[in-house]
Amino acid sequence: MKTIIQQIDAAQFDKSELERAAAILKEGGLVAFPTETVYGLGADGLNPDAARKIYEAKGRPSDNPLIIHIADFKDLEMLTLEVTESVKKLADAFWPGPLTMILKKSSQVPHDTTGGLDTVAIRMPSHPIARQLIAYSGIKIAAPSANTSSRPSPTLAKHVIEDLDGRIDLILDGGGVEIGLESTIIDVSQEIPVVLRPGSITIPMLEKVLGMVRLDKALQEESLSKDCKPKAPGMKYKHYAPKGDVIIYKGEIEKVIAQINQDLLEYERQGKKVGILATAETKTAYKSGYILDIGSRKDESSIAHSLYASLREFDERDMDLILTESFYSDDLGTAIMNRLLKAASYHVKQV
Ligand code: TXA
Ligand code: MG
Repeated sequence: MKTIIQQIDAAQFDKSELERAAAILKEGGLVAFPTETVYGLGADGLNPDAARKIYEAKGRPSDNPLIIHIADFKDLEMLTLEVTESVKKLADAFWPGPLTMILKKSSQVPHDTTGGLDTVAIRMPSHPIARQLIAYSGIKIAAPSANTSSRPSPTLAKHVIEDLDGRIDLILDGGGVEIGLESTIIDVSQEIPVVLRPGSITIPMLEKVLGMVRLDKALQEESLSKDCKPKAPGMKYKHYAPKGDVIIYKGEIEKVIAQINQDLLEYERQGKKVGILATAETKTAYKSGYILDIGSRKDESSIAHSLYASLREFDERDMDLILTESFYSDDLGTAIMNRLLKAASYHVKQV
């Protein structure tokens, strides 16, 4: 299949530029498009054949459910069994935006979209191209991140091309995404809301709206490497991983830098190509290696923004090993560390 790549200016475009993408979606085809979090790989979420094509193109296990993207709150009535007060409050506070809610699905949503589950994940993205594409096509767009399974999610159209060129119908290239990490997922289908995937809408932000909110036990660091099964099926797979092995250094930053410098010399002596994930504040402290400045420690969102692109860059440079600082915090750091820990297969060195 020849993949069409269409440039579109996110700041200024005409609806008619979405005509081809909308037609493909209506015919059951696959369109990658930018959202504020990461690029999504979209298909008609109510068409089982179209949803199945997504799994095929990504090489995604079929028990890993998809998120349905909507542009109008009223669509919840058709897609779910009950729109509760909590759902209304969350939507008021965070939609359109990077929050996905897990709700009980209606019979309109095929099990092919939900990986066989009786719940459905729904999100209303804020990105202008995503919003217009949903509204203009009239399609409830099922869209996972537009990467091949187990690779870092795409934050630029170039990443989508790397992974999916020749496997999908169209890529809308609307430039870089804003956030760089996938949406926060909250399960509101049960009594106590549980965060199944941390993101830029943080637990403190959710608690302000809902009262008590828990983080899925399986995602807490103590349980991470153990056999605890996460509630979002996708969180159990190896994910976000570059080809090189990743080691996370945890501790005071001065000690982390010293230890990385020491290990770096040893790995390089062994002939390994070593990448270092550093920050604006620390990048000059490393003695060698392929150093990437991922952002500033004073601005966690800058780190979230560049994480996946940096992991992909290490791949391009054929790094055997990636040594990284850690970015723990109660804010966005929770989401950053969740992805980084998965990229590292939970390999953490305490210093
Ligand atoms: O920011 C995002 O959410 C991006 C953009 C494209 O919107 N999408 C995205 O989709 O990250 P994906 O498929 O890569 O991740 C969806 C996650 C998976 O971990 C999946 O298991 C979980 O959502 N999920 C989907 N439906 C679920 C359900 N009914 N119950 C529990 N987890 C669910
Ligand atoms: Mg994904």
